[in-house]
Amino acid sequence: MGLTLWRHARIATLAGREPWGLIDRGALLVDGARLRWVGREADLAAGLDIDGEHELGGALVTPGLIDAHTHLIYGGQRASEFELRLQGASYEQIARAGGGIASTVAATRAASSEALFAGARGRLDRLQGEGVTTIEIKSGYGLTLEHERRCLQVARRLGREPGVTVCTTYLAAHALPPEFEGRADGYIDAVCQWLPLLHGESLVDAVDAFCEAIAFSPAQTGRVFEQARRLGLPVKLHAEQLSDQGGAALAARYGALSCDHLEYLGADGIAAMAEAGSVAVLLPGAFYFLRETRLPPVDALRRAAVPIAIASDHNPGTSPALSLPLMLNLACTFFGLTPEEALRGATVNAARALGLVDRGKLSEGLRADFVAWDLEHPVELAYWIGGHFCRRVICGGQEHTQ
Ligand code: NIG
Ligand code: FE
Repeated sequence: MGLTLWRHARIATLAGREPWGLIDRGALLVDGARLRWVGREADLAAGLDIDGEHELGGALVTPGLIDAHTHLIYGGQRASEFELRLQGASYEQIARAGGGIASTVAATRAASSEALFAGARGRLDRLQGEGVTTIEIKSGYGLTLEHERRCLQVARRLGREPGVTVCTTYLAAHALPPEFEGRADGYIDAVCQWLPLLHGESLVDAVDAFCEAIAFSPAQTGRVFEQARRLGLPVKLHAEQLSDQGGAALAARYGALSCDHLEYLGADGIAAMAEAGSVAVLLPGAFYFLRETRLPPVDALRRAAVPIAIASDHNPGTSPALSLPLMLNLACTFFGLTPEEALRGATVNAARALGLVDRGKLSEGLRADFVAWDLEHPVELAYWIGGHFCRRVICGGQEHTQ
């Protein structure tokens, strides 16, 4: 494949020291799946043998968005639980009455692989239609070897679809399945036994757990992480979402790629994350949908130079979010991020949260993953509440049309 030129764009490269890495009257030269050159159109070398040209008409171009935390694969949905919560029931009450995660586990186990794929495919379409070119997908609604395997296989199958890169995360330590009632340690034994099998089938890119009073303890989480370390797999953690369990510090001891949620993160956790280079993945969709009030410690994270990412946390219970630009808006309004921090959170820092070094910015040698928006300035990505401004999505140099 030869060179392709994408011209007449205002490019927020997020590379270099300028705010947004902004280049006006810019162009991108694509060689196969990679960027050969990004710069001012006037500076484009002469005499290049260009095979195809695309006119972007002055559109804003950003790196492809990266959603670094989703639970995209599940059966059913929980709209009726939403209604119950609106009538005053709490998330915990619903969970104790057999709803919540347990109801999604039952629906996921009952669904065929084809139905799981079709449901996730439809949701992925919507996220891609809003600019996502890389997505992390967790298991965690199967909770048996067979059902976790199926979910991870569906995630891998989605990764073979055009226009997207999928990173898989093993989250069997998400909730205690009913058959292990009262035997959480026994379940963690099983979670640790399944991991090498699924890793042996190339289904696992990273390992996650839900470390919380209503889920698994730091000691149980540590056992899962030990197993991940033995297999050479990176870890991440649902940490400090509802209380401070010291989960972030624990994850940092295992060199975690990221710690996610973090509303109750304390000074020790921040210091440990800074030391380990872990990314703080903030999830404003869940904060909003559960009407939480406790804010993640954004200022302290900034002071400690912990990179901040923003993700959808797409899941049927706490964040049925299908637009990453909307999450940027929520991250600014609720968490006080600047619009530029928010965009970096869904690109550069999200790539880092997934251990990916070949994307998240637009510069020479990186993947040609970029989005053309019907917007004038990158601030607008975080400014509009909803709306649909994504015009063209290019992933690995190929335009993705839905
Ligand atoms: O990321 N925090 C744990 N798990 C999900 C919610 C799961 C559900 O309610 O189905 C989350 O918020
Ligand atoms: Fe989550």
